[in-house]
Amino acid sequence: MKSNQSNIKKAKRYLDRNECIAVPTETVYGLAGNAYSDSSVKKIFKLKKRPTNNPLIVHYHNLKGLKEDCIINEDFKKLYNKFSPGPITYVLKLTKNSKISKFVTNNKNTVAVRFPKHPLLRRLLKILNYPLAAPSANIFSKLSSVQPSDVKEEFGNKLKYILKGGRCSIGVESTIVNLTNNISILRLGGLNISKIKKIIKKKILIKNKTKNKISPGLFSIHYSPGIPLRMNVKKPKKGEAFVLIKKRKISSKNYFFLSKNNNLIKAAKNLYPLMRKIKNKGYKKIAFEKIPNIGIGLTINDRLERASKY
Ligand code: TXA
Ligand code: MG
Repeated sequence: MKSNQSNIKKAKRYLDRNECIAVPTETVYGLAGNAYSDSSVKKIFKLKKRPTNNPLIVHYHNLKGLKEDCIINEDFKKLYNKFSPGPITYVLKLTKNSKISKFVTNNKNTVAVRFPKHPLLRRLLKILNYPLAAPSANIFSKLSSVQPSDVKEEFGNKLKYILKGGRCSIGVESTIVNLTNNISILRLGGLNISKIKKIIKKKILIKNKTKNKISPGLFSIHYSPGIPLRMNVKKPKKGEAFVLIKKRKISSKNYFFLSKNNNLIKAAKNLYPLMRKIKNKGYKKIAFEKIPNIGIGLTINDRLERASKY
């Protein structure tokens, strides 16, 4: 507890100097900087090697800060009351006086915002005078980080500080909802869309596959372990790592398991670290057996589909 307190203070000192640092969230680790500071935001893009036309998510502690920067609406209020803090990101219109750096939004009049649930990050956000811009803490197009060692592997000594908050409890990125005109889902994520549909009783378009690149992070070749990946495989080829959804009695050393007993929530949590492990073991190819396309399985399949474009 005490060491957490001093780590939070240390994190604040870096951020106040417009440095970027890694922070834990319940979804994946973020590469965070002051969202109001151009120089801080530029450092994020540079460190991550991210194209500047791919806007960032801004993380707030609560509504108070948000209302100065964004215009909220009825759908937002309903979803916020039910799901925030948690694994959901809202795309909203900027207010005229918004202080968010134009580098966060790539000069657009909309911004993606989120209220993370991880207790350490919440304590940090509470003591800052600005919200945090933070993409996932990985090099552009690569696997997201779900624990401090992953962040270290991605950035090495180039990153000044990691606020260590253990293993992310969800393990896949937030669900992105566009609320700027007709409500639509831009990215499948940690919050199941069936839950969103229950709250918003109108038609919700799922746009994660449309050619309209409103969310550039939806480009192909994302979330890639850096080696070829095949999905819906019944039998692996020679030399391929084979990933199964549940532990099997019959297995060989190239078999890996996402969960003990077909648990999709655990599978999502294990997805990125397992791919990282397989890559680090030296495998040149990965095959996944069919993952049930329900609940968070939809998100797992979305990520695998993008990773398979490698
Ligand atoms: O769980 C998460 O969302 C994590 C943690 C760190 O919060 N963050 C994350 O950020 O996944 P990132 O940068 O890897 O993905 C952000 C996505 C990108 O696909 C980006 O295109 C989209 O959000 N995005 C950001 N601003 C947008 C906007 N104004 N309109 C549409 N999409 C936007
Ligand atoms: Mg990302």
